[in-house]
Amino acid sequence: MNVPFVDLFAIHKPLTAEFAAVFQRVLEHSSFILGPEIEEFEKAFAAYLGADHCVTASNGTTALQLVLAALKIGPGDEVITVANTFIATAEAVTAVGARPVFVDVDPISYNMDVSSVESAITPRTRAIMPVHLYGQCADMDVLLAIAKRHHLHLIEDACQAHGAEYKGRKAGTFGIAGCFSFYPGKNLGALGEGGAISTNDGELAQRLRMLRDHGSQRKYEHSVPGYNFRLEGLQGGILKVKLPHLDGWNEQRRSIAAIYRKAFQGSAIVPPREMPDCKHIYHLYVVQVENRDAIKEELAASGIATGLHYPVPLHLQEAYRDLGYSQGDFPVAEKLAKRILSLPMYPGMSAEAADYVAATMLELVSCRA
Ligand SMILES: Cc1ncc(COP(=O)(O)O)c(C=O)c1O
Repeated sequence: MNVPFVDLFAIHKPLTAEFAAVFQRVLEHSSFILGPEIEEFEKAFAAYLGADHCVTASNGTTALQLVLAALKIGPGDEVITVANTFIATAEAVTAVGARPVFVDVDPISYNMDVSSVESAITPRTRAIMPVHLYGQCADMDVLLAIAKRHHLHLIEDACQAHGAEYKGRKAGTFGIAGCFSFYPGKNLGALGEGGAISTNDGELAQRLRMLRDHGSQRKYEHSVPGYNFRLEGLQGGILKVKLPHLDGWNEQRRSIAAIYRKAFQGSAIVPPREMPDCKHIYHLYVVQVENRDAIKEELAASGIATGLHYPVPLHLQEAYRDLGYSQGDFPVAEKLAKRILSLPMYPGMSAEAADYVAATMLELVSCRA
């Protein structure tokens, strides 16, 4: 049996006719950048999240960068984020000229270790940027309290957490802003690049709209130097077709996760833990195992594709060598990087495929015990 890591065609195939209608509509009204498809999707996504405003952007990285720029975070400022995330989280900080300050992650939830945040705060700190990693929310109550106590912005990197919940509220609605990626493989993905920001702050939303469109509110009148971080009309239409399916797809992911969890009980495979106040939407299903690299290779030989999220923590990436971190600074992130393995996880994945992955994993792990 061959099990891919994700199967985007299986998700998109039933929607082909609706996608074709979007294409036809966009051809007819010719609003290829921003325009009515974007406005409708922004309204729909804000309503889905329970946020007052949604402002789309060209991708998740530029969504994060726009928020930092709109909050006037720049050279001389520091932003606290995690060592175990995709590099885009930190790139958005460096793109505005600020400095990412890393903290370690919690060994159980894999999210920001809230106990190490306060000691990372300096007079230059402007924001805390937790990542809702793999589709599970960080400990928002504690982080919001720290942000309030120190007068810092809390910006959520919700790029992996479309529909994830914390105490019944959706990821992206806790901080001053939440940032989403619509990279095709995300739980809600475009057919290309895409991103969005959610916020309840009307003034911030207005500033974000201006900044993403060359600092302009009226064509050829520019109040500030901005960016070209606009989303294409076509992607807005596609995302609006896909949005009503998001909760169903997330439930399918949770069913696959339940199969894996049951199978791995009592074994040497450490499954992800759904934290008490959280609804995990399993953008990625990440286990820990000994001899990870060998097991990954053996799974590939059995037709099972896997991923690593992420093999090198950000503080040890060459790109950030000048930040001055070294091996041993964030022991949990470093240990996880050697042990984590992302298993196949996508809506439409059959129970047979999940059983096959689980059985193969168990066999490989028991052979090595
Ligand atoms: C945690 C995290 N932050 C930011 C991003 C950036 O999103 P994009 O690829 O749309 O720029 C991603 C996307 O992979 C991500 O996983």
